[in-house]
Amino acid sequence: MKKIYVGMSADLIHPGHLNIINVAKSLGEVTVGLLTDRAIASYKRLPFLSYEQRKIIVENLKGVDNVIAQETLDYVPNLKKLKPDYVVHGDDWKTGVQKEVRQRVIDALNEWGGKLIEPEYTPGISSTQLNQGLKEIGTTPEIRMKRLRRLLEAKDIVRIMEAHSGLTGLIVEHTKVKQEGKNKEFDGIWISSLTDSTVKGKPDIEFVDLTSRLNTIHQILEVTTKPLIVDGDTGGIVEHFPYIVKTLERLGVSAIIIEDKIGLKKNSLFGTDVEQNQDSIENFCKKISAGKKSQVTNDFMIIARIESLILGKGMEDAINRAKEYIKAGADAIMIHSKEKEPDEILEFCKRYKTFEQKVPLVAVPTTYHKITEKELSDNGVNIVIYANHLLRSAYPAMVKTAESILLNERATESEEYCMPIKDILNLIPGGN
Ligand code: SPV
Ligand code: MG
Repeated sequence: MKKIYVGMSADLIHPGHLNIINVAKSLGEVTVGLLTDRAIASYKRLPFLSYEQRKIIVENLKGVDNVIAQETLDYVPNLKKLKPDYVVHGDDWKTGVQKEVRQRVIDALNEWGGKLIEPEYTPGISSTQLNQGLKEIGTTPEIRMKRLRRLLEAKDIVRIMEAHSGLTGLIVEHTKVKQEGKNKEFDGIWISSLTDSTVKGKPDIEFVDLTSRLNTIHQILEVTTKPLIVDGDTGGIVEHFPYIVKTLERLGVSAIIIEDKIGLKKNSLFGTDVEQNQDSIENFCKKISAGKKSQVTNDFMIIARIESLILGKGMEDAINRAKEYIKAGADAIMIHSKEKEPDEILEFCKRYKTFEQKVPLVAVPTTYHKITEKELSDNGVNIVIYANHLLRSAYPAMVKTAESILLNERATESEEYCMPIKDILNLIPGGN
């Protein structure tokens, strides 16, 4: 009996997959190397279905004899173990991101006289199309909420961008770039208190209340499928916090970040220029545990944000608080800094690495913006949040247009700064 190897993601099974399996079955015993979430996320979006769900489906497909995990996009580790006579793959991988992967398969097979069989790609249907269709249908609160934990499992660093309206939500949802064969996009959405307040013309002092924040959150939930991390400011008083947790959890928000400040909260980036007070460790831990106790699922995350570096309380205090907040049940730690250089963040990361009890680490490189995602990830950061960039880039563009109209007493000169009317009419489908 010949041994056949087929590598696949099998997220959205379509006739093209069945065709490949049929060809493989006609040659011998079929082992499917099912790509893990991590392997898939290394070159494109996280699959809709978890590895376990995809495994059950593939195991039950006619023609499949065995299913094993393929831990990397690269087939070679599995091929070396299995030494198959044939690998079967659609001919679509001759170009694009998988081109080099294909060459490595050919080279590996050559070592033991194996062959690559490439049936013609089934036209008319593709995962990309199905993916688009699924996005249009939307998601459920449960699936969306779980996605952040799945991303943390599957990716070295989870990339989050702020949104403060339905429109900016759409930008975070849909913006994609292709670079060196990989598809890059944001993994999720940050609901910033700074930008949510600023678009309403209000200061970032916890004045925009929960009802209003929820309004923004609803707008974004309605038009997106990616996970949401909500900036919960201080989380309010201990007795109120459980209600906030329950509300966000019910909506399918994945996480709330609360900061260890008390009294009138001001934006962290003011640092010690304004009066701000840090909460006691004891009280903040109480808030964390009250929140954790009120959750219905195990999926929702409460992230504790440490303001010690912002408030000039020093590294020791930050480290000590991180340990205490983790003990109190925090699902992740956010360490914040308003320095231009990342030195204190990197120092924190170095000490954090030695902790016995660790949870994912979140960083918000607004002021120390030269740091790359790779550097953050190498230092142990698991989530990076770009906290205000869509609003900060939109504002100067709007002011420029307003000034141009005032100066020229007509609109024609501002046209060059504006998108064409046709484009804005078609930006949101369903209007015609
Ligand atoms: C926000 O985006 O509202 C934040 C991050 O809390 S910061 O503005 O840096 O405090
Ligand atoms: Mg905030």
